[in-house]
Amino acid sequence: MRGRQHGAELDAHVKRPNQLDRSFDYFHRDGTEMAWWSRDGGYWFVAGYDLVDRFARDHASFSSRHDFPTGATPYLGVMLPPSPIAAAPLELDPPQHTVLRSIMRSRFSSVSIRKLNPRIEQLTDRCLDRHIGAGRLDIYHDLIQMVCSTMVLELVGMPLELAAVLADAAQVEPTMSRKAEIAWGRLIEALVTAVEESRRAPGDNLMGDLCRSSADFITDKCIMEIAATLLLGGSTSPVKLLLDTFTYLGSHPSDRLLLARDKKLRRTAVEELLRVFSPTEIIARTATRDVAVGGEMIKAGDRVVLGFGAANRDSRVFACPNDMKFDRKPNPHLAMGRGIHHCLGAALGRAEAATILDRTLARIPDFRLVSDTDNSRPRMDSLIIEF
Ligand code: HEM
Repeated sequence: MRGRQHGAELDAHVKRPNQLDRSFDYFHRDGTEMAWWSRDGGYWFVAGYDLVDRFARDHASFSSRHDFPTGATPYLGVMLPPSPIAAAPLELDPPQHTVLRSIMRSRFSSVSIRKLNPRIEQLTDRCLDRHIGAGRLDIYHDLIQMVCSTMVLELVGMPLELAAVLADAAQVEPTMSRKAEIAWGRLIEALVTAVEESRRAPGDNLMGDLCRSSADFITDKCIMEIAATLLLGGSTSPVKLLLDTFTYLGSHPSDRLLLARDKKLRRTAVEELLRVFSPTEIIARTATRDVAVGGEMIKAGDRVVLGFGAANRDSRVFACPNDMKFDRKPNPHLAMGRGIHHCLGAALGRAEAATILDRTLARIPDFRLVSDTDNSRPRMDSLIIEF
């Protein structure tokens, strides 16, 4: 028996939709910091803010390394269940991780992203111009996915025509659809071609930066893994955040009007939306050594799941954690992670969310949801509004 055991109660919790009513009170009401879950090979689910924060910073004890599917080591990367393809830099430890972050940092810095703001605004306005006259908008396909996919394709240095393919490839939850499989096939072909071309003539983009590097571990395969991680990260996390946001605003009209009227409030609101919806709700690690926590012992080789979403509802850190407070300050949420793997695309994700929210609410302050998305996580394929 490994410490506190949880089964049905945790299951029921995990199946609840990720909206405001997903309170995580189950973990926090009795101060539960972490619990052993025997499903999926067994893992420690870490829910307490302080512990998630501590483990996320301690990359030496909690590794992100991915050796799956060789089975030669217990290192299964950060996905649950483990992904068959390694994601880089997400599933690397130092020293390779440090080398990659130093090559990639400047393109994703706040300064670089500020320079991209006019481009995000232009893309958003263009999408709105195209559809606003119809009085109806599929906010997923025609706006959010289009803007976020185009931005990440441009940064990486891939053809922009792939934006629609990327939207299909992002449909991987809960299982990969046939459409997503076909899209992944096309994306991989496009990545092979892009790496070949970039090796011949490296451009002024992220793929060019990687091709110019002399580090031997940055092989063509590694570049493809990095590009795929960026394309997927860039076209799923901000998209999930905005889908949850527009679903929420569609069903909370007074909050929508509040945000539509107050531009300053929209700045802090993005942080609160990140906290409440936590698009990357969990991320896994593998323990590299035995770690004693309270009365429990995490053994070397154990899987440890960091509950960023649960930590963001910990009442020891956030007063009334299940309430949406757009002016919450301070708001030290963990939605973008902590430590060396802190989200590389954080500035881009925030800029996209802020701009899409600003521009859409300025032009469509009043709308109603047409899709059947009342109070559950929106499906990642459509969110229709009418106005
Ligand atoms: C609302 C938007 C976003 C959220 C909530 C989010 C969330 C996260 C989180 C929680 C992590 C930490 C993972 C860990 O600790 O293992 C992470 C890492 C990462 N994110 Fe994001 N992300 C967002 C946007 C983006 C965007 C727009 C991109 C790229 C275009 C991106 C690319 C990455 C990459 C490459 C990593 C790995 C960093 C590393 O391992 O050093 N993310 N993200």
